[in-house]
Amino acid sequence: MVGLPARGKSLIAQKIVRYLKWLSINAKSFNVGSYRRADTPQPTAEFFSMGNTQGERLRRAAAEAAVSDMLKWFGEGGGHVGVLDATNSTKARRAWIKQQCESKGYECLFVESRCDDEDLVLSNVLSVKTSSPDYVGQDPEDAVRDFMERIRNYEKVYQSIDNDEELTYVKLINVGSQVTINAVANYLQTRIIYFTMNLHITPRSIWLSRHGESEFNVQGKIGGDANLSERGYAYARALPELVAKSVGSNKVTCWTSTMKRTIQTAAHLEYPKKEWKALDELDAGVCDGLTYEEIEQRYPEDFRARDDDKYNYRYHGGESYRDVVIRLEPIIMEMERGENIMVVTHQAVLRCIYAYFMNVPQDQSPWMEIPLHTMIKLTPRAYGTQEERFRAEIPAVSTFRAKYASSQMGATTTVDEAAFVPAPALQTVHESALLPEGYKANGLAESIAANGSAVMGE
Ligand code: SIN
Repeated sequence: MVGLPARGKSLIAQKIVRYLKWLSINAKSFNVGSYRRADTPQPTAEFFSMGNTQGERLRRAAAEAAVSDMLKWFGEGGGHVGVLDATNSTKARRAWIKQQCESKGYECLFVESRCDDEDLVLSNVLSVKTSSPDYVGQDPEDAVRDFMERIRNYEKVYQSIDNDEELTYVKLINVGSQVTINAVANYLQTRIIYFTMNLHITPRSIWLSRHGESEFNVQGKIGGDANLSERGYAYARALPELVAKSVGSNKVTCWTSTMKRTIQTAAHLEYPKKEWKALDELDAGVCDGLTYEEIEQRYPEDFRARDDDKYNYRYHGGESYRDVVIRLEPIIMEMERGENIMVVTHQAVLRCIYAYFMNVPQDQSPWMEIPLHTMIKLTPRAYGTQEERFRAEIPAVSTFRAKYASSQMGATTTVDEAAFVPAPALQTVHESALLPEGYKANGLAESIAANGSAVMGE
């Protein structure tokens, strides 16, 4: 990363890592500030001034330790993309990083975040006083003043990336309003650049819902293209009111899969609609239309193998969760680019989308419980995603089957009790964090609690 303090570098770094890990590309961020804090936990702005030789020495040592750990991580195998999260503000520093990486055979892509939008910078500065461990326990006004002074010290030496440095780079000006790209060398760099180009900071939310209960859900069958059950249709009729409560007057676009049960669920929503094949349910191949009990009887080894490694297990003639993630990549990119979106889709697809936004690891995401007749609202914030759940008052079967549970505990045996509870009382809120080590989110849950909603961690 390259950029002055308060230019959103850490946020971009963490988003790149989250995106790549979701795509099974092993990525890790190395935050130089965290290394520096080992020796100098709470420096004043003076520490970052040009003439401070002691400060310069310690900052250089922190950068060297971070780069050395990153190269070690690559060398130990398994590491694909290391993100060096630091200001890297001079030509000399960048030349050194390039030389260090290339001497070990690793390619460098520099991502510069430039920002001359004063409101944007100020809002980042203000978030620092509550989130950065550099200012823990300090008077907020003093923290802001000191941080502004630190920025001024960096500005004195800052050199934006110049073509004479002969670097592969992407320069993002005011969070993607203008982008300059130079000398892209490989496919992975292209993917990362394309991802960073799609990031934006306009406030918006994403609403996710499974389709209403289907006839196949009631019969405990998986896959298929069944119609909704009576209760599923009731959920479809209730959905506009459930959505309207949290959407208000915001403009929303509704996406569904191409399957009947999602289209029927969205039928009463008066938003522009778009059908995506990529949102169709995970293809169960030869098991399509069977109950779990039938699958266990006909394909006992497969039934067991899927529980052993659900993320990678691919149904014969069908798909795995890994396959679904790959076909969902354009959807995620559109979601990053877009504004308010309501997605009505299927259990496996929804788990994959949710895992991206909430940073859920691959071994857990296929086992997440996402009940029918429940709407999930995700709101990307500066340092993570806020989640709220709203349940409708319409009962539905539970299609959840825990790892290694008997096939007989299939959908038809349990009715989702939670669905009987009135929606407003069951609004749950929690957050995922997108922060470098040591940072803390800005008390979002507390502020929601103060505003009167129920707050329940999971
Ligand atoms: C820090 O010490 O907080 C960051 C060092 C840098 O990236 O310049």
